[in-house]
Amino acid sequence: MLKFNENGKFTIMVATDIHEKADVTSAKAKKKMRDGRVLMETALDKIKPDLVVLLGDIFTNRENEEPFADFRAAIKRVAQPMIDRGIPFAISLGNHDHDGLQTAKQVEMYKELEGCLIDNADPNITGNANYNLLVYSHDGAKPVFNLWFIDSNNHYEDLSVSKYDIVHRDQIEWYEKTALALKEQNGGKVIPALVFQHIPVIECYRLLRKAKLWERPWAVRGEGAFSKNYYVLKEGVEGYLGQGPCTPDIDCGQFKSWKKIGDVVGAYFGHDHLNDYNGQVEGIYLGQCKTASFRVYTDGARSGVREIVLNEAEPEKYETKMYHFKEELGLEPTSLGPIMRTITDRQSVNLTVARNVLLGAGAVVAAGYGVSKLVKHIKNK
Ligand SMILES: [Fe+2]
Ligand SMILES: [Fe+2]
Repeated sequence: MLKFNENGKFTIMVATDIHEKADVTSAKAKKKMRDGRVLMETALDKIKPDLVVLLGDIFTNRENEEPFADFRAAIKRVAQPMIDRGIPFAISLGNHDHDGLQTAKQVEMYKELEGCLIDNADPNITGNANYNLLVYSHDGAKPVFNLWFIDSNNHYEDLSVSKYDIVHRDQIEWYEKTALALKEQNGGKVIPALVFQHIPVIECYRLLRKAKLWERPWAVRGEGAFSKNYYVLKEGVEGYLGQGPCTPDIDCGQFKSWKKIGDVVGAYFGHDHLNDYNGQVEGIYLGQCKTASFRVYTDGARSGVREIVLNEAEPEKYETKMYHFKEELGLEPTSLGPIMRTITDRQSVNLTVARNVLLGAGAVVAAGYGVSKLVKHIKNK
């Protein structure tokens, strides 16, 4: 049973986009795995969470076929820091988790791990890991808070409409039905809840505003349906925007459903490895979490985890903050080159922009030189 401690607190540590891979023997892989493991272990020992949430893209499936034995070994590697400390962990599936081995089989294998709370509440609806976990009062007498884990699937059936899938109507109906049943059991009062889901909802773009021309150097380009514009965070939104949120391009109605039921106070997403903003849309916090790994694209030494501290006395209010590898955890990476190791946050993105500009300028100079040589050659003839 998950429950608040004697001080009325319940702490969650969110780690996302670990992208564990089959390669565990190359020197490069060993360094990246070391950095990822140190990040998880240090964060667990500092935050001392009551629950860890792995927010999807836990595994990168190569060539769509990972042998079962390797998959088991890979998820064990990811889970080991929690198992060693006796900390329970829940899982939301990410798009890359859907790339290979059937997710229903994955869920069964995850369940074999000590402390893993993954579930699939209704096998008849879309996705393979839609479920909820209740957090009880410190005396265990009644549920005070609820945690939703929603499987945001993989790619949309028609890629010309949306690259990423939506949360389907049957999943939303399951959420509403379950939330209303909980409300009835709770004397007609909704149980405040957080949602943990890999792919962000389209409403995350409402935390952003279009960048003015002079803001372009630190703005990011939108993705998919939003790719015509550049964005910065709206005033009042905390954290960092390192890339355009990769949401589905169509509104599936999930956010409206949260508003209608009235239980969701916040929703946290992974998927975009550089983002860790957190802000409110119509009274509901929407936030992202940077990758907790070095086995994927990262933001220098800024990989990290998110802490969420729930409060039994005021369950609608909670506190959250990021712990980054270098900044808050004080760690030194071994897998990054000297530049990526030193720079932080936005600088890594700007460095890529600067490199591309230099390469572009170099190409123009080279082309100009080539043309002038050609003209000279023709004239001489
Ligand atoms: Fe990812
Ligand atoms: Fe993803």
